[in-house]
Amino acid sequence: MPSFLIFLTILLSAVLSAVHSCTPSDREALLAFKAALSEPYLGVFNSWSTANSCQNWYGVSCDATTGRVTDINLRGESEDPMFEKAGRTGYMTGTISPEICKLDRLTNLVVADWKGISGEVPACITSLSSLRILDLIGNKISGDIPANIGNLQRLTVLNLADNSISGKVPASIVNLASLKHLDLSNNRLTGAIPADFGKLSMLSRALLNRNQLSGSIPVSIGNIYRLADLDLSMNLLTGSIPVQLGKMPVLSTLNLDSNLLSGQINPNLLSNMGIGILNLSRNRLEGTIPDVFGSNSYFMMLDLSYNNLKGRVPGSLSAAKYIGHLDLSHNHLCGSIPNGSPFDHLEAASFSYNDCLCGNPLKTC
Ligand SMILES: *[C@@H]1O[C@H](CO)[C@@H](O)[C@H](O)[C@H]1NC(C)=O
Repeated sequence: MPSFLIFLTILLSAVLSAVHSCTPSDREALLAFKAALSEPYLGVFNSWSTANSCQNWYGVSCDATTGRVTDINLRGESEDPMFEKAGRTGYMTGTISPEICKLDRLTNLVVADWKGISGEVPACITSLSSLRILDLIGNKISGDIPANIGNLQRLTVLNLADNSISGKVPASIVNLASLKHLDLSNNRLTGAIPADFGKLSMLSRALLNRNQLSGSIPVSIGNIYRLADLDLSMNLLTGSIPVQLGKMPVLSTLNLDSNLLSGQINPNLLSNMGIGILNLSRNRLEGTIPDVFGSNSYFMMLDLSYNNLKGRVPGSLSAAKYIGHLDLSHNHLCGSIPNGSPFDHLEAASFSYNDCLCGNPLKTC
């Protein structure tokens, strides 16, 4: 980042942090929140002193007129000079105290990348009706996602990634009418993705990868008009890939790799002009690779490796505008590899471990 930008960021965060005092009851709740945490290296809580009313408390913002706390923004990886001085990223242990639920005007709660914060997401958090951002990524939080999470009607960002959260994706999650960004990746979630997941009509990113989710991919996902990025990889999902996923208007990244998906690859997944990153590797997909590529096909990445695909490498692939990374290895493909500019830069590894493929970059037929 250019230094003037870093300067601007620091200036901005200084302006945004609590220059105003907050109400005595909010101050008590903040002190209880602090008391349940331990941050040994940076001193992020040094400014949270009992001697004043939240003025210039690091990471805290209060509303100037009401004196109510609106933001808690504590990131363990940040450009703040505090981190540079300590020469390390943040580390914190302890738990998130349910006392924060008394901060009922809270709009942003970010307690991210502290690596060691454990305990559960307090269930009472679902009563914070002003909450727009709940970001607890990169801790050691366990237990279930609160069952009533769907009460948070203003929530736009729910990020609980990289924790140890277990249990099911709560059924109420589909009621988060404002949700744009959902990241539950790298946890221990089990059970099925709610069938009516497609009710999340504002969603643009849905990352549920690296869990133990089972059942099939809800067909209703195809109704999420704004969905650009869907990652369900590294789960235990079964059944076929819903045809609807190939008809989504703005979907550009689709990662379904490392599941137990079966059935054939629907042609519209490969002919959809918007999907530029498609990873279906390590499933049980069968049938042939649809021969539906053309001069508008533009894939930064197309990985179909480790499936049971048979037949030929589609001839139409040679007409594609661009294929950055192609992996068709570990299938049962046969026949000659087409020629053409998309293939010029590809290496043998893209085609290896098939039944009887031949031609450049493999041995001549
Ligand atoms: C696709 O997914 C597989 C399996 O999860 C992974 O090993 C591979 O690196 C991914 N492909 C690319 C090109 O990222």
